[in-house]
Amino acid sequence: MIGVYDSGYGGLTVLRALRAALPTHDFVYLGDSGRAPYGGRDTDTILDFAEQCVERLFEEGCPVVVVACHTVSCVALRHLQRRYGGAHRRVLGVTIPAAEAAVAESRGHIGVIGTTRTVSSGTFAAEVAKLGAHRVTQRAAPLLAPIVEEGWADTEIAHLAVARYVEELGDIDTLVLGCTHYPLLRPAFLAALPPGVALLDPAPFVAARLADWLERHPEVLEPGGSIPTIPRASAGSLRILCTGEPANFRAHGELFLGEPLPIVAHVAEEGGRLAHKDRVEVRLGQVVR
Ligand code: DGL
Repeated sequence: MIGVYDSGYGGLTVLRALRAALPTHDFVYLGDSGRAPYGGRDTDTILDFAEQCVERLFEEGCPVVVVACHTVSCVALRHLQRRYGGAHRRVLGVTIPAAEAAVAESRGHIGVIGTTRTVSSGTFAAEVAKLGAHRVTQRAAPLLAPIVEEGWADTEIAHLAVARYVEELGDIDTLVLGCTHYPLLRPAFLAALPPGVALLDPAPFVAARLADWLERHPEVLEPGGSIPTIPRASAGSLRILCTGEPANFRAHGELFLGEPLPIVAHVAEEGGRLAHKDRVEVRLGQVVR
C-alpha cells in the first residue's frame, strides 16, 4: 500500500497521476484539509504537521509515503527522510522529479510558481543547481490556491491573477507549476504565457519516478522482496482520509482527482495532534448501574 500525503485536496492531482502510472497498486491518501493551507505557515508548524501525517500513513500500513505537497516537500522532506527513512520505510517527495523534468525541458531559464513557503525555502532552485547551470526565477502566488479551492479556476478572476503573476516571471522558457492546485489553472496559465514557453506539471514525472523506484526496490512493498509474478487483474484500491470535513472533501475532491471519490474517512485531532489509528475510544457520560 502506498501512502500519499498533502495539505488538503490539491495532492489529489498528484494521486491521479500516480494511479494512472500504477493502476494495480493500492493507495491511501491523507489530506490535512482541516489545517490547510500550509503555504503561509512557519517551518516548525509544517514539520510538526508533516510528522503527524506521515506517521498516520505508516500506521495505516503504508511503508512508502509520497509527499505530494510541494510546500512540505520543499520544507520538510529532508527532515522526514532522516527521521523515518530506512530499509523498510521510505518517504519520497515531488521537488527532485520537478527539478529534473524542468532541467530536461528548459533551454536555460526556468520559472517556478508556488506557495510563499515553497518559494522562500529555495529548495527547488537548489535542486536545479545540482543538475545544471539553469537560471531559476521564482514567484510566490498566495492568491492562487484559495481561488482554486473556491471553485473559481476558470473564472476571469483566476485568469487575471495568473496573468499578473506570470508577467513578473520575465523571459523564462519553462514554467513549473510548483503547487498541487495549479494544474486546475492550466487554461489560465496557457492563456497568460507567451508562445514558446513550456508549461510543466510535475505530477506525471513524480509518478514515473515512483514507478521506477518501486521496480528497483520491490522489497519495500513486498516484505521478503518477492514481487508477484502474475499481475493482479483487479484495479488498485483507494482509501481517502482527511482531517477536515469529509463531506466537503468528497465534494471538492472530485475536481482534483478527476473522478468521484470513495467515502472519505475522518481523522480526528486531539489536543492539536492527529489521533492514532487505533485510538482508545473514550466514552463520555454516565455509567448506569
Ligand atoms: N498543497 C500545497 C502545495 O502544493 C498547496 C496548498 C497549501 O498551501 O496548503 O504547496
